[in-house]
Amino acid sequence: MNQVINQFTTRAKTYSASANWIADQGLIKAHIEAAGARPSKNVLELCCGTGMVGRNFAAAGWHICGIDLTRAMAEEANGFFPCICSPAEQVPFLDNAFDVVVLRQAYFLLENGQKVLAEAHRVLKPGGVFVFSQTVPFSTEDSPWLEHIHRTKQAQFREFFTEESLKSQLEQEFFTVKNVRRLTVQENITRWLDEAPELSVEKRAEVSALIENAPEPYRSLHKVETVNGQVLEDWNWVIFSAEKK
Ligand SMILES: C[S@@+](CC[C@H](N)C(=O)[O-])C[C@H]1O[C@@H](n2cnc3c(N)ncnc32)[C@H](O)[C@@H]1O
Repeated sequence: MNQVINQFTTRAKTYSASANWIADQGLIKAHIEAAGARPSKNVLELCCGTGMVGRNFAAAGWHICGIDLTRAMAEEANGFFPCICSPAEQVPFLDNAFDVVVLRQAYFLLENGQKVLAEAHRVLKPGGVFVFSQTVPFSTEDSPWLEHIHRTKQAQFREFFTEESLKSQLEQEFFTVKNVRRLTVQENITRWLDEAPELSVEKRAEVSALIENAPEPYRSLHKVETVNGQVLEDWNWVIFSAEKK
């Protein structure tokens, strides 16, 4: 956990602009749609970071609060909606308190994902919706190379998930998947690496080379290209709407 806190403490001030996906309006809108057309209900965002998703829920009329393990990230989110510094493994709210719980792009960092899913399940009302999302490979063809890239970049990367393995995590004990949405967001790899101050210059070059020189079919699935010196590629997102069992 300390490694995660250190990384996101260093990045808190610049995090929101450090990758395209973080503020991508199409991706955020898909999360709000996945929650169902029920503004004015209560939403909890777990591992909310600087609260890019939560702020947009708030703007759409939902009552939102968030939690994040990294104090500096929670403080950034707290400028937009109430956010507490707390681990998602111990959510400081009562049972059946929320209509919707959201968790975007943090599951791969968790030491005990099932413990966090148990907490999401506990604080959701019966019939509540869990909106759960992450980047995943497009298929089995790009999966091994994508895992290689992520493990090279992120020292604290715990587990590599595919759409299928994320669905099994959800359905193992606590949720039933009701809807799956897939979305592609183009990422600027040069900026994503430049905005990762925890990485050495050598490590950035290593990761960039893994993408620029990726084998087929990774290159064509991710549409890897270099434009004006910037390396660009597509990332595949999966957004689950799941119901509490
Ligand atoms: C990649 S960021 C994603 C932030 C946000 N969900 C978003 O989509 O913009 C991962 C966030 O998860 C938080 N985090 C990691 N492990 C956590 C845990 N066990 N409990 C709560 N937050 C955690 C980190 O502090 C970081 O802010």
